[in-house]
Amino acid sequence: MKSNQIRLNCGITMPLMAFGTYSYPYNRKTTELAILNALKVGYRHFDTAKIYGSEEAVGSSLNKAMKEGIIEREDIFLTSKLWGSDHHDPVSALKQTLRNVRMEYLDMYLVHWPVKLKPWVNYPVPNEEDFEKLDIESAWIGMQKCLEMGLCRCIGVSNFSSTKIEKLLDISSTPPGVNQVEMHPMWKQGKLRETCGAHGIHVSAYSPLGGPGNAWGSTAVVDHPTIQSIASKHNSTPAQVALRWGLSKGSSVIVKSFNEERMNENMASFELNLEEEDMFEIEKMEEKKIMRGEFLVNQTTSPFRTIQQLWDDEI
Ligand SMILES: NC(=O)c1ccc[n+]([C@@H]2O[C@H](COP(=O)([O-])OP(=O)(O)OC[C@H]3O[C@@H](n4cnc5c(N)ncnc54)[C@H](OP(=O)(O)O)[C@@H]3O)[C@@H](O)[C@H]2O)c1
Repeated sequence: MKSNQIRLNCGITMPLMAFGTYSYPYNRKTTELAILNALKVGYRHFDTAKIYGSEEAVGSSLNKAMKEGIIEREDIFLTSKLWGSDHHDPVSALKQTLRNVRMEYLDMYLVHWPVKLKPWVNYPVPNEEDFEKLDIESAWIGMQKCLEMGLCRCIGVSNFSSTKIEKLLDISSTPPGVNQVEMHPMWKQGKLRETCGAHGIHVSAYSPLGGPGNAWGSTAVVDHPTIQSIASKHNSTPAQVALRWGLSKGSSVIVKSFNEERMNENMASFELNLEEEDMFEIEKMEEKKIMRGEFLVNQTTSPFRTIQQLWDDEI
């Protein structure tokens, strides 16, 4: 498993295969069971967020497994995220997350979106009047405090464009360890990977299959003829091709499956070897961003009037 890890600029190592825990509708028992199964399959990196509502389930299953001696805390890499309503006070938000997961520290704490919301906005789709002026500098100072206090081992961001990454680097001497973004064969993030790579920031791929089965997701990636034909050539599956593509680009992949067979299938993508011509064919696939972030854009209180502004024209 060791070679399937990456060393981050903050000095810690992170497993490249991560287990996503967002599901809708959310069911605590189903999520707990999925995490216990994922541990059996070999997943050691778990991705949660306050706004997914899955922190308690993740914590309960991981603590159960630790109590039974199946894993030690050090074997696990746990990521959670700062919601927009907590930009005012990341330390208190992370302390609450730690109570939710019943752990003393997280491995990674990410700014979920470059969006600041009113303190009471504990729901995923903000209302028109819920936004505040973005102040990433003060949020990032709070994130740094989390790190200094030992509440997490590394800090990072999510859904940041190249422009926002550059701006963050201008105002802070602590670079993010990770930028977690949508990335798959139809949203390759070429420019962002270049920018992040130049600054030693690891790009982590969420929705690496394009989120088939999610209300907002798409089957465009796994159903794409290019992906399907590479999969059949290697006697593998479309999901394995998509995941191996992300790994081949040096990214970690955060894939969600609560089905044990598909958990195994996804983990086995490490064993697939894509040839140069497969990578070339994937390079030719059209681009299609699936998580566009319309819910964070409005004409009144959001600092972003259009999705182009949200992504700094990188869409
Ligand atoms: N930072 C952010 O803003 C952000 C945004 C979105 C997601 N995320 C993180 O990334 C994780 C994954 O993203 P995602 O759930 O949107 O997308 P995804 O992992 O690309 O897709 C998940 C969907 O694909 C299905 N699936 C999984 N493996 C499969 C396979 N081998 N073949 C066919 N279908 C398969 C799953 O269903 P089954 O469960 O039935 O297998 C589920 O419906 C989330 O859980 C979350 O932790 C972060």
